[in-house]
Amino acid sequence: MKKFFLEDVSIDVAWDDRQGCDFQAMWMGRKVGHALCIIDGDRIKLCDIVVFDGVKFKRAFGLLPYRHVNFRNRGIGSLLMKAVISEIRKHQISKIYGFIVSKDLKRNPNLLNWYVGWGFAEVDRDEFQDVYLRDEDIVITKNLTY
Ligand SMILES: CC(C)(COP(=O)(O)OP(=O)(O)OC[C@H]1O[C@@H](n2cnc3c(N)ncnc32)[C@H](O)[C@@H]1OP(=O)(O)O)[C@@H](O)C(=O)NCCC(=O)NCCS
Repeated sequence: MKKFFLEDVSIDVAWDDRQGCDFQAMWMGRKVGHALCIIDGDRIKLCDIVVFDGVKFKRAFGLLPYRHVNFRNRGIGSLLMKAVISEIRKHQISKIYGFIVSKDLKRNPNLLNWYVGWGFAEVDRDEFQDVYLRDEDIVITKNLTY
């Protein structure tokens, strides 16, 4: 497998009828992560952002035919987030929100900090009463200024 450099990662952006936007992180022709945003009135919802932790690569030598490579903590999630924010700015949308579910939080206790590093803040869930959330789930938002 080729040595990893973040510079070799590209982010492909695709809008679906201008309502939803899909971001795919590509490295050496392979998908290594993605994000999905949906326009919700004057806001945008970050539905999903994930960097893959087990991409399968064929080995040239060795007993095992494949190795599974973890692409997390290499800056790819940050590249995806930058692309999301830049795309939102193009559409003059001033607010982005998302939910951190307890399942993800348990697996990665640093997750909220990661979002905070991107300018998100935990907010009261009153605004989202129509969304099913567990007590431990967290609502996060970020306001964009122009
Ligand atoms: C959350 C998630 C998308 C972050 O993606 P990632 O690629 O691991 O994130 P990054 O590498 O950009 O940032 C993680 C850390 O690596 C560091 N890092 C390592 N190498 C880096 C590089 N070359 N450039 C920039 N940052 C780098 C960052 O500083 C960051 O440190 P921090 O946690 O102190 O802020 C990823 O962990 C994931 O897919 N988690 C599982 C799914 C999930 O929980 N998604 C969120 C749902 S709400």
